Amino acid sequence: MALAEQPAAQENPLAEGLLLRRSPDPCTLVIFGASGDLAHKKLMPALYALALRRLLPPRFAIVGVARTEGDDDAYRADMRSAVQQHARDPFREDVWEELAASLHYVPTEFDNAGGEDRLHDLLGRLDEERGLGGNRVFYLAVPPPVFSTIVEALGKRRDGRGWTRLIVEKPFGHDLESARALTARLCEYFAEEEIFRIDHYLGKETVQNMLALRFSNGIFEPIWNRQFIDHVQITVAESIGIEGRAGYYENAGAIRDIFQNHLLQLLALTAMEPPIDFTPESVRNEKVKVLRALHTPSPRSVVRGQYGRGFVEGVEVSAYREEAHVAADSMTETYVAAKLYVDNWRWADTPFYVRMGKRLARRETTIAIQFKRAPHSPFEETAAEGLRPNVLLVHVQPDEGVSLAIGAKVPGQGMAIRTVHMDFLYGGAFRTSMPEAYERLVLDTMLGDSTLFTRGDEVEEQWLLVDAIVAAWQRDRPGFPNYAAGTWGPPSADDLMHRDGRSWRRH
Ligand code: NDP
Ligand code: BG6
Repeated sequence: MALAEQPAAQENPLAEGLLLRRSPDPCTLVIFGASGDLAHKKLMPALYALALRRLLPPRFAIVGVARTEGDDDAYRADMRSAVQQHARDPFREDVWEELAASLHYVPTEFDNAGGEDRLHDLLGRLDEERGLGGNRVFYLAVPPPVFSTIVEALGKRRDGRGWTRLIVEKPFGHDLESARALTARLCEYFAEEEIFRIDHYLGKETVQNMLALRFSNGIFEPIWNRQFIDHVQITVAESIGIEGRAGYYENAGAIRDIFQNHLLQLLALTAMEPPIDFTPESVRNEKVKVLRALHTPSPRSVVRGQYGRGFVEGVEVSAYREEAHVAADSMTETYVAAKLYVDNWRWADTPFYVRMGKRLARRETTIAIQFKRAPHSPFEETAAEGLRPNVLLVHVQPDEGVSLAIGAKVPGQGMAIRTVHMDFLYGGAFRTSMPEAYERLVLDTMLGDSTLFTRGDEVEEQWLLVDAIVAAWQRDRPGFPNYAAGTWGPPSADDLMHRDGRSWRRH
């Protein structure tokens, strides 16, 4: 069936969770870095999932650009096996054939004028043949040093036909200065509304559910503040190591890889004021206020770590310094924990404890809102021995859902109170597999909706905080490695909590 003849998304049972407000305009998606890891593991599987659910524009083309030699047929074969390997849905020949027919490949260096000519000739031809109206999404899935070259080449050839949107992958700069320089470079040719900075955590269902939970339920917002909340804990734990990405990770470390973007975005969504509507500007205006209100932590309030050898899920793994292409005396951190404060009326004096790391005991991203204890207990002390404070726990991944810890009477004579959990699990409630973040983000870009992308001023605030932390780190040299792979990080991270009479949530 031709894509144009397929039923609208609203009539399509597979389009669960991605119900469209409207169909995207006809357009061409150009993927720079089409032969890379991201294109194989995330982008093409996401496009296949969208095709399967008939959520792509009715008239559409994809053009892959990279240096690897090849032609359309070779690229289609390569992407077919990428989809078979990495898609979340079963492989359907008819869906793939339809998508493959819209797939093209241009092999070239990015700073090669001949290659640019071939790309633009192809784009013009596809516009003519398929009626794509000159609408373009350019996806920069390439190493950051190449961003600037591509942006200039694209910018110089803008012809004013159709709309243009530019997706920029992370990392967005290495520090505040380089992020500002990159924004300035992009803005030479593109307007801020045309720039879509990816933070794929914002595309995760459960991260968006934080907004639904807070702002579509009347019961949470009145208690979502310093009066009722004791503290917040945000954990981004990974059991994987650096997966062969030493070249990137040695220069980034956990602070630039996760803290600067995913972690701070989770914090901003947790702490932000209710936006007046769900438009890009309203949501991002509120997030940036939180980022601006973040107080630079004292060196005592930040802990860094690096993993040594250990066992993860029963398998022995190497130390970070033993990973391929990592320096034997590397001082790159693979773990960060910090106590942060949001200096505003809602959150003053309420700590946000955050931690993130590689090679931890297991994969888990959670946001735990820990409420204050009841001000007075009418029960005998022994009755409530097993009672912990109320916690609202958002499971971002895995086991996506929300759980509320409450006190309940233990059945039987007398009065004994214990903590129990009221659980909402996505899998149980909606009986559907979760869309991958990239599905949502690629589709939103085609729709021109930048709500789930990071605006330039947010990125700058994020770097401001990170630069201050990194500057303070120059003054000392911790004894790395300081945690064994497969544990929950260095002991000093526990001390950070114990000093405040608190502890990390139990696992
Ligand atoms: P890879 O190294 O796997 O792929 C890079 C791609 O860019 C390849 O297609 C490569 O082409 C192409 N490329 C690089 N330099 C040039 C050049 N001078 N001219 C033409 N093509 C070039 O990287 P990833 O796919 O892993 O990452 C891409 C981007 O996505 C990076 O910014 C990364 O930080 C970001 N990212 C990646 C994630 C992932 O899971 N992989 C996760 C989050 C972000 P060729 O190989 O054909 O030479
Ligand atoms: C990427 C980081 O942005 O996010 C990786 O560069 C990390 O180091 C990954 O592993 C985690 O993403 P997810 O979706 O698996 O939690």
